[in-house]
Amino acid sequence: MTVPAGRPVTEETIGGLRARLDEARSGGHRVGLVPTMGFLHAGHRSLIEHARSENDLVVVSIFVNPLQFNPGEDFDDYPRDLDHDLAVCARAGADIVFTPGQDEMYPEPVATTVRLGALADVLCGASRPGHFDGVATVVAKLFAIVGECSAYFGEKDFQQLTIVSRMAKDLSLPVSVVGCPTVREPDGLALSSRNAYLSEAERAQAPVLRRALEAGEALVEAGETDGAVVEARMTSVISDAPLATLDYAAAVSPTTLTRSQQPLQGDVRLLVAVRFGKARLIDNLGCRTG
Ligand code: PAF
Repeated sequence: MTVPAGRPVTEETIGGLRARLDEARSGGHRVGLVPTMGFLHAGHRSLIEHARSENDLVVVSIFVNPLQFNPGEDFDDYPRDLDHDLAVCARAGADIVFTPGQDEMYPEPVATTVRLGALADVLCGASRPGHFDGVATVVAKLFAIVGECSAYFGEKDFQQLTIVSRMAKDLSLPVSVVGCPTVREPDGLALSSRNAYLSEAERAQAPVLRRALEAGEALVEAGETDGAVVEARMTSVISDAPLATLDYAAAVSPTTLTRSQQPLQGDVRLLVAVRFGKARLIDNLGCRTG
């Protein structure tokens, strides 16, 4: 197969996508996958560009996965704009955009799902029960559809990245999971499709997530090894923003996502989740004890 150039090809069927990718791989082409739920922003663009720089054929999947939304969450309202997404994919150099409908991905009620262990019960998993099982199920399905490839995920969703990397390893999936740096607005707010929900006043206060993380990082790097003290500092910074409601502020091991080392030792991941009205925003950063 000749690798397509210019505008990406859109493919709606699993069979059609597999045929294209099998042909590409038989010609020795390396395949890169960027799984998304659409409403693409510069963060997704950087994932696609990263995939482009390391592969011969780049597939972007766009599918709003109902399994990862709990009742009452924003599945129905999740922002969607396929024309915009295709333009972003074209600019970033994607070759194929996979846009399956619900009937293609889940033609009948799902009887088999991925059930995760402890990594999914903490942090975002504690306030969104079942969310990561839904993510892991659709990602496992995408990995099965796409086959041998490198798959690119943003560090902004650090718990998701950790879970997906671990799942690929535990299940010996033929996929190399690549984490890519968070892309931010100039004031530090991490890019997210859910930023679209913020009112002007909420948007003005949203950089508090980044400020809280930086305050936690400064403490860790200055030698603070009590995780509770670091978490209290981040919580206090977030309480300065009157429109913010804290979900969690955590200082944890980057591999177990719990405070498995107490006192904190070596690599530490700081993570926060905060609600601003309808928008639930998350952010994180990595640091080391000083
Ligand atoms: O990060 C996302 O956009 C989604 O959780 C993913 C990985 C595409 C699975 O639906």
